[in-house]
Amino acid sequence: MSVNMKKAAAERAVDEYVKDGMKVGLGTGSTAFYAIHRVGELVANGMDLTCVATSEETERIAGDLGIKVVDLSEVNNLDVTIDGADEVTMQLQLIKGLGGALVREKIVAAASLDQIIIADESKLVESLGKVCPLPVEVMIFGHEKAKRMIERQGCKAVLRMKGDEPFVTDNGNYIYDCKFDGIENPYFLESRLDTIPGVVENGLFLNMTTAAFVGRSDGTVKKIC
Ligand code: A5P
Repeated sequence: MSVNMKKAAAERAVDEYVKDGMKVGLGTGSTAFYAIHRVGELVANGMDLTCVATSEETERIAGDLGIKVVDLSEVNNLDVTIDGADEVTMQLQLIKGLGGALVREKIVAAASLDQIIIADESKLVESLGKVCPLPVEVMIFGHEKAKRMIERQGCKAVLRMKGDEPFVTDNGNYIYDCKFDGIENPYFLESRLDTIPGVVENGLFLNMTTAAFVGRSDGTVKKIC
């Protein structure tokens, strides 16, 4: 029997954290997809929820399910955001953005009282940056210069492509996927990336997460908090 680890984690997280009357951030990606569907079921059963989407794709999926989606500017803050991740440590430090939505995801997470991460067990790592590249979103203007400055931080930066063309984010920017040989000090790296002109945001989510639900191949879901 095949176990859908993403679905199990997503449904546990929604059932535990989403309550009637809440303002909810909806994440992006194949794991968040199941959370959005669970939220859609709650709404169909009469729950009153106001949601903010972290991407145009998520807004479309939520809209199709009859979920009320508003702009972040229409709500002061959010009660909870449920989102996926690309790497998760036991200390709840994350790499996000392989789905291309890192800027809006970070803004929405920062506006949320609780950020809840959902993932399958393949995302659990001991330390960040050994498996996944770190996505860094940059302005198109001068992006080659930004790339050179990013690479001075000790990585190989590869422009993300979609077919023959560079991938363009919902914000009209490019993404460099930056392969480090492990990220020893994520706080220091983040502070350096933040000073590079043209860098819009990076995929390090440090000290932003309340709990993570990790779906395992034996069918159980582990909660890390
Ligand atoms: C989107 O930009 C990402 O941060 C996703 O949350 C992350 O890539 C996880 O996606 P999956 O759930 O599809 O693995």
